[in-house]
Amino acid sequence: MGFIVFSERFCFMEKMWAGRFAGELDRLANDFNSSIRFDCRMFRQDIRGSISHAEMLAKQGIISGEDAMQIIEGLIGILEDIEKGKLDFDPEAEDIHMFVESVLTKRIGDVGKRLHTARSRNDQVAVDVRLYLRDEVEEICGLVKELIAAVLEQAKSNADVICPGYTHLQRAQPIFFGHHLLCYCMMLIRDIGRLEDGAKRMNVCPLGSCALAGTTYDTDREFTASSLGFDGYTLNSIDGVSDRDFCLEIMSAFSILMMHLSRFSEEIIFWSSWECKFIELDDSYTTGSSIMPQKKNPDMAELVRGKTGRVYGNLMALLTTLKGLPLAYNKDMQEDKEALFDSIDTVKMCLKVFAPMVRTMRTLKDNMYAAAGKGFINATDLADYLVKKGLPFRTAYKLVGQAVAHCIEAGTVLDELSLDVLKGFSPLFEEDVYEEIALKTCVEKRISAGGTGGDSVAAQIAYVEEFLK
Ligand code: ARG
Repeated sequence: MGFIVFSERFCFMEKMWAGRFAGELDRLANDFNSSIRFDCRMFRQDIRGSISHAEMLAKQGIISGEDAMQIIEGLIGILEDIEKGKLDFDPEAEDIHMFVESVLTKRIGDVGKRLHTARSRNDQVAVDVRLYLRDEVEEICGLVKELIAAVLEQAKSNADVICPGYTHLQRAQPIFFGHHLLCYCMMLIRDIGRLEDGAKRMNVCPLGSCALAGTTYDTDREFTASSLGFDGYTLNSIDGVSDRDFCLEIMSAFSILMMHLSRFSEEIIFWSSWECKFIELDDSYTTGSSIMPQKKNPDMAELVRGKTGRVYGNLMALLTTLKGLPLAYNKDMQEDKEALFDSIDTVKMCLKVFAPMVRTMRTLKDNMYAAAGKGFINATDLADYLVKKGLPFRTAYKLVGQAVAHCIEAGTVLDELSLDVLKGFSPLFEEDVYEEIALKTCVEKRISAGGTGGDSVAAQIAYVEEFLK
């Protein structure tokens, strides 16, 4: 969405609701009240909703077929002109709904004034936001899928690359780097599930709820709902105009998605640090420093981590806006849009940068392997060795703890201890222990379902591939 350049051509428009008022709205109050600078992005949805409404009015004999035809042609003309840049949004218009209607009336005359029969801006805005969000969620799910594909690609090419697995950011047990990356695929698949679930629940049409109480006209809500691609219509007119749960649900899903991207970012930042150096980000997704010539900074990942805050903030803002609102519509609800739109824009931008950043990152396998070789990452395996020879786990755990303490003292690692030294801790140690605690064995023998072992990694890859089909 580019920036909207407001035209200066328009004069201070007469308000649609001018009849009740003798005086004019204060200029500052007018600007304060107006939402066109941000709701103008819903012009397509607004026009689409109006076309469907006009068709319904004609079908029900509420307006004539002739009038409906003129209205629809007028609306299509407005849509085309906005898209071609021939019609600018008027900053004096109160909102996109008033703008479209006033341009329509200016163009086709009094017939345009029939469009708002059996409708209110309250149900109009509710339908617009749902239509807009539905399209955006679909696009965002596509972007998440692209990210999953990028992560999957990396997981496949690193399926047998050994790296340390961490808990408490302390080296814990060796894993395949592919297994680690596949974890993000699982998280992102759930994100899509949450978005789709929210989109499904949101897909009911509020149009026809009118201001709050429904209408005296013989409308056909089923018709407008199905012509706009909804699964049905809202069953309570007050709910139809008061509900913004759907925004909150999607914004919650966005927040969780951003939390996932932020955790991934944090790891990418850690992995590319000199302290770790497991990966090298491509030049196209890093920046330099203005003073330190050696720097290659993971700015994109840091920004994604940073922007997570504003997506959470938008959710909190809307939750807070809605919390004390009596039924039905209140102008406070106009505050839904900037928060929602900012989250949409932010999430999209983050995903668009993240996927290629992941796709182009290079893994430094030797560094990963070397790091996995330190930190007594095979201590659990050494204990398991003794358990398999008959010791209770707690006893084995304690003996291995003593062996680790000995290594730290002697400046060595478990694999380097001679069999004699090992036998000093337990006579159960034999020559086969070395094979048993070799890094490769440690990873490959974690054959439990969902573990880091090769078969499980292959099964996860197949699952993610199937999901992406
Ligand atoms: N711009 C308004 C909004 O975004 C549209 C609905 C206005 N309704 C009203 N009764 N003033 O919420």
